[in-house]
Amino acid sequence: MAKIAIGADDAALELKQVLAERLEEKGWEVEDYSVRPDEEDTDYPDVAVRVAEAVAAGEYDRAVLCCGTGLGMSITANKVPGVRAAQCHDVYSAERARKSNNAQVLTMGQRVIGPEAAKVVLDAWLDSEFAGGGSTKKVEKMEAVDRKYHPEA
Ligand code: RB5
Repeated sequence: MAKIAIGADDAALELKQVLAERLEEKGWEVEDYSVRPDEEDTDYPDVAVRVAEAVAAGEYDRAVLCCGTGLGMSITANKVPGVRAAQCHDVYSAERARKSNNAQVLTMGQRVIGPEAAKVVLDAWLDSEFAGGGSTKKVEKMEAVDRKYHPEA
C-alpha cells in the first residue's frame, strides 16, 4: 500500500479528517502529522516543515497539508529544498499542479473550501501524474533555484 503524509494545524483538523478518510477509501496508508493537544508547537509552520522534510527525505512521494487558508502550509513547505507544494481549491489547478509542476504536496484551507469540494480537488490531484515533455525542463529550472540558494542540500 502506498504511503502518504497528511498534516493540519488546529484551524483545519476537520478538513484534514475528511481528506484522511478519503485517502484511506482510495487505498492509501495515511501517516498523520497533525498537531496534537499535548504539543507545545502547534502552528502551521511546525507541521509543514515536519511533513516537507519527510517528503524531501524520500519517505513519501505525496503529502497533503491543511490550515485555515492553505497558504501558510504552502509557503512553509516550499522553503524546504526539493519540495513543490501547491495550494489548490479547484480541479483544474489540482490537475495542473501534478501534470505541469510535479507538485508532491497539495495544500488546502478549511476556511476556503467545503469538505465535498475538497474531496473532488484531492481526487483530481491524486489521479494526475507529471506529464514530463516540455514541463520537465521547467521543473528542472525550479530545482536549479533550490540549488542556487541551498548548494549544500
Ligand atoms: C491560523 O493560525 C491560520 O492563520 C492558519 O491556519 C493558516 O491559515 C495560515 O496560513
